[in-house]
This record gives sequence, structure tokens and C-alpha cells, in this order.
Amino acid sequence: MSTEARIALDGVSYCFGKGALRKQVLFDIATQINGGEIVILTGPSGSGKTTLLTLVGALRSAQEGSVRVLGQELLNARERKLIKVRRQIGYIFQAHNLLNSLTIGQNVQMALQLNSEKRKDDKRRVIEVLQRVGLAEHEHKLPRELSGGQKQRAGIARALVNRPKIVLADEPTASLDKKSGRDVVELIEDLAREDGSAVILVTHDNRILDVADRILHVEDGRMRSMSEVVSEGTSRMLNLLEKHDPNSANYLATFAFALARIAYADGEVSDAEREKIRRILHEVADLKESEVEFIMELSMMQRRAKSNLDNRIVNPALDEKRAKHFLNSLHAIAQADGITTSLELIEIDAIAAEFGLHRKGIPKTS
Ligand SMILES: Nc1ncnc2c1ncn2[C@@H]1O[C@H](COP(=O)(O)OP(=O)(O)OP(=O)(O)O)[C@@H](O)[C@H]1O
Ligand SMILES: [Mg+2]
Repeated sequence: MSTEARIALDGVSYCFGKGALRKQVLFDIATQINGGEIVILTGPSGSGKTTLLTLVGALRSAQEGSVRVLGQELLNARERKLIKVRRQIGYIFQAHNLLNSLTIGQNVQMALQLNSEKRKDDKRRVIEVLQRVGLAEHEHKLPRELSGGQKQRAGIARALVNRPKIVLADEPTASLDKKSGRDVVELIEDLAREDGSAVILVTHDNRILDVADRILHVEDGRMRSMSEVVSEGTSRMLNLLEKHDPNSANYLATFAFALARIAYADGEVSDAEREKIRRILHEVADLKESEVEFIMELSMMQRRAKSNLDNRIVNPALDEKRAKHFLNSLHAIAQADGITTSLELIEIDAIAAEFGLHRKGIPKTS
């Protein structure tokens, strides 16, 4: 099964309930995920993310379409086959699911014993994984003696101790503060990349989208491409902006996108950069906080999906005053972390060139 995708879904539909209560929650889902790939699954509450994850995870058996996981067809699969597939999957849930009466070390070791035949190296592997998640000193503690973030990391150690070929994580950061959430996701990313696992990570947390190789979006049980979502979001954004200032809507949309480009110039968007974007957008448009948030996140998504948006760039029609403000704002985002990097400068120059501006923000007269 060398070239087969780790996960291959085709025409997958799923219903809960029977008879009059029967309700379809997944419709014709198709996608493939390879080893080493990290896919983030987003979508509104109730859209079917967890249901989809449990199908892939062989935690319920598929009813319609093809669910191939690690070379096994799970459509109408018997319990025995499901169990065999489950053994090769690492699950990370919102609640850490540690056994409270066992120590952290024992919890991790148990996952290993359920699987491996040779016990000789078990102990070493447990310690190695606990070290990896930063819990080496906590091996002999009980779960209740750890913080939420530490428990979640122990859950990750337990899920990954077997070097699973597939890792499924359902909102692993939901109960964590921002910093621990980020750490946990980066940990999953590192470990998965080391072992070449295929990862599906369900999240509502926009701040971690950047770890993904690919983002899948589910809405009302249907899979939608990111470019569909973004282009729909773009028209929503323009409508929103037009309500406030019809003459500036196009400009603002372009402006927000340019800010996002600078924030992304060196790979990762920091909190300081987000905060700066928020503040600048607040200053230029009379928008509610939630609207600013929407525009910011959408611009970030546009930036991520840039390849699909090349024909979407709007001519912002800058007069001199606006052009200056435009470029100053780009510099302000670049400076948000305290230092403007050369990558950020290159991006500023590129944007300036696209919009026919000089470095100082004066439109070129031609
Ligand atoms: N065991 C069940 N029996 C009946 N309906 C269910 C069951 N589990 C989920 N549902 C319904 O299926 C739909 C999809 O639920 P699911 O849990 O997959 O959503 P989700 O995208 O994970 O949502 P959230 O972001 O809130 O976790 C919802 O309408 C939900 O009410
Ligand atoms: Mg869910």
C-alpha cells in the first residue's frame, strides 16, 4: 500500500436516527490525506466535524460511500476490522481521557501495552515521549496533580507513544489558554512530522490555522473548498464595509488584505501583529469589534488562499493621503513585533509596486 493515501473518503454520507427521526448529517464527503500531512477541519458547531472524525477513526462504521483508512475499507466493516484499524490511530480529544487512578507514566505505558508485542523497550519509549511533551518530571504524578495544559500534553503523549500512522484530534486546545493551546498544537505538529503521521485536527481556533498543510471546511455536513469559503466571505465583507462607507469598501478590503500579507511575510502571525491590525482597522473604519475580527480573519484566510485570489485584487485608487497612510500602516504591522525584518520589507516593496506606490507612499504619476 505504498502509494495509497492513508485516508481516502469518497461519497461519504451519514445519518443519525431511524425512521421519522432519521437525520442526515454528512453529505457526499470526498477527500484524501497522505502521510506527513496535517489537515485542519473547521466549520460551525453541529456541521458534522466530530461525526466525520469518528468515521475516519473507525469509532463508528460508515453507512454510505467509501471510507478507506490505512488500506482498509470501513464501509459496513465488522467490529474486528474496526478494532484493528483503531489500534493504528492516535486519538486526542478535548477532554484528555486519562485514567485518574493511574500515574501519567502508567497512562502512557498502558496505551503502549495495548499494542506492542515486545515489551522490552516500552519503558524507554514512555520516558522518551514524556520528555518530548515536557512532562518527564511528572511521570509519577496522578492526573489530578497536573494543570489542564499538562494533562492535555499527557493525553498527546499517550496518543503518540505508538507512533500512530494517523492522528485524529478533536478540539485539543478547547480547554486551554492561548499559550498552552499553541504549544499543544505545535507539539502535535512536531511529533506528527517526525513520524510522518497523517493528522486531522478539528478546531474553532483561527490562530492555529497556520500549522495546517491544508484546511478543509465543513458546513451543514458538506465539504467546501477554502476558496469557496473565502470568496463568499469576501462578498460578505464588502457588503459589511459598504454599509459603513460605500466609497471605501473596496479600499478597505484591499487594505486589510495588504495588512495580512505583511503579518504573514515571515511565516507566522504573532499576537502583536494581530493586535496592531485590529487597532488599525478600528481606526480607519467605524466597525464593531466583531466586524473588525471578521475582516481580520477573512483577510488572513485570503492571504492563506492567495493562489486562488490572484484575479481578485481590487484597484484601491489611492490618493496621496491615503497612499501614505496605507504604506505607514504596512510598516506599523511590520514593526509590531519590535523589529522589521527584511522579509517584511520585501513584502512591503512588492505591495507598493503592485499598487504603483513609491516607498514613501506617494503614488507614481505617469
Ligand atoms: N449520537 C448522535 N445522535 C443523533 N444526532 C447526533 C449525534 N451526534 C451528533 N449528532 C448531530 O449530528 C450533527 C453533527 O454533529 P457533530 O458532533 O458531528 O458536529 P460538530 O461539527 O463536531 O460540532 P461541534 O463544533 O459543536 O463539536 C449535529 O446536528 C448533531 O446534533
Ligand atoms: Mg465536534
